[in-house]
Amino acid sequence: MINTPYYLIDKTKLLHNMEKIAYVREHSGAKALLALKCFATWSVFDLMQQYMDGTTSSSLYEVKLGKLKFGGETHAYSVAYADDEIEEVLAHSDKVIFNSISQLQRFSNASANHTRGLRLNPQVSSSDFLIADPSRPFSRLGEWDAAKVEAVIDQISGFMIHNNCENSDFDLFDSMLQQIEQRFGDLLHKVEWVSLGGGIHFTGEGYPLDKFCARLKQLSERFGVQVYLEPGEAAITMSTSLEVTVLDTLYNGKELAVVDSSIEAHMLDLLIYRQSARMVPCEGDYEYMVCGKSCLAGDIFGEFKFDRQLQVGDRLSFIDAAGYTMVKKNWFNGVKMPSIAVRQLDGSVELVREFGFDDFVNGLS
Ligand SMILES: Cc1ncc(COP(=O)(O)O)c(C=O)c1O
Repeated sequence: MINTPYYLIDKTKLLHNMEKIAYVREHSGAKALLALKCFATWSVFDLMQQYMDGTTSSSLYEVKLGKLKFGGETHAYSVAYADDEIEEVLAHSDKVIFNSISQLQRFSNASANHTRGLRLNPQVSSSDFLIADPSRPFSRLGEWDAAKVEAVIDQISGFMIHNNCENSDFDLFDSMLQQIEQRFGDLLHKVEWVSLGGGIHFTGEGYPLDKFCARLKQLSERFGVQVYLEPGEAAITMSTSLEVTVLDTLYNGKELAVVDSSIEAHMLDLLIYRQSARMVPCEGDYEYMVCGKSCLAGDIFGEFKFDRQLQVGDRLSFIDAAGYTMVKKNWFNGVKMPSIAVRQLDGSVELVREFGFDDFVNGLS
């Protein structure tokens, strides 16, 4: 039995998403690049690279990881590159997408022989959270003035537009795309490729995949562009769990259970968005607040129902623990970092990575 805490990636569940991505590629002509910011656990790239065209990145290190561990087509994007990064970024990418006209100009000589793109900001998004809204007031994420972009159009061959956030509503995707077409149509006619970024939850149950494919194809044909998608969450949704063990139980007005993990250290994204972790099943007469073992008073995974009283040593499993979770794990309080295990397609579970005291020490000095 693998010692907890550990993340368990189930390749059969991952495959379910991959097959939907492959369907969209086939029926829309769009290419799909894994957004490494969301998920970068390279030990399952062997499966993912069979169903996706490559990766996109948010930094020099991600672009290198994508090139070296995933292969295929590698897009480089960053909110801002430093002078001492650009050479390596170019060496490890097929396309570089600059966030601003000033970055494009700053690196115009260095990138003269590279395929270049620019991020557009359509000033419309589907985000419910200001902190995650690329179109928030005064957003630094991309250029929004078509006239300014027109002036540098001969230096680029494509655009990246990321304005969907956790969007499972096809009609909303469609209406925002219409606004983009209206606003930037003249520019789109002048380029060869357009990436629509991530945030489209097209692998979710019930998403109208055929309508989605037809809409992507229509975009591609209308403007004569190769369309790219950058799925992060859609690629890995529901594929991974965080496995933990109960270390203590107590009653302080509510039944509490303390586990050998921490929401702040191991599921940070949920804490940032004030969301609860999820467990399935979550039924029964016994309700517990499941808490982490860090010193943070609000280190709480959530309140869950069980069909039994919890005991020290019980194992619990939080579902949907891959996206923006494994990439954000940290050493807060020196809490043991979760190992990484993979359930292979044949059902066997393999422990692929363990972290120890040396990793904790080496992250500091
Ligand atoms: C530029 C870009 N592409 C792709 C993604 C991936 O988005 P998601 O994981 O929601 O699909 C993001 C997420 O922030 C992004 O900023």
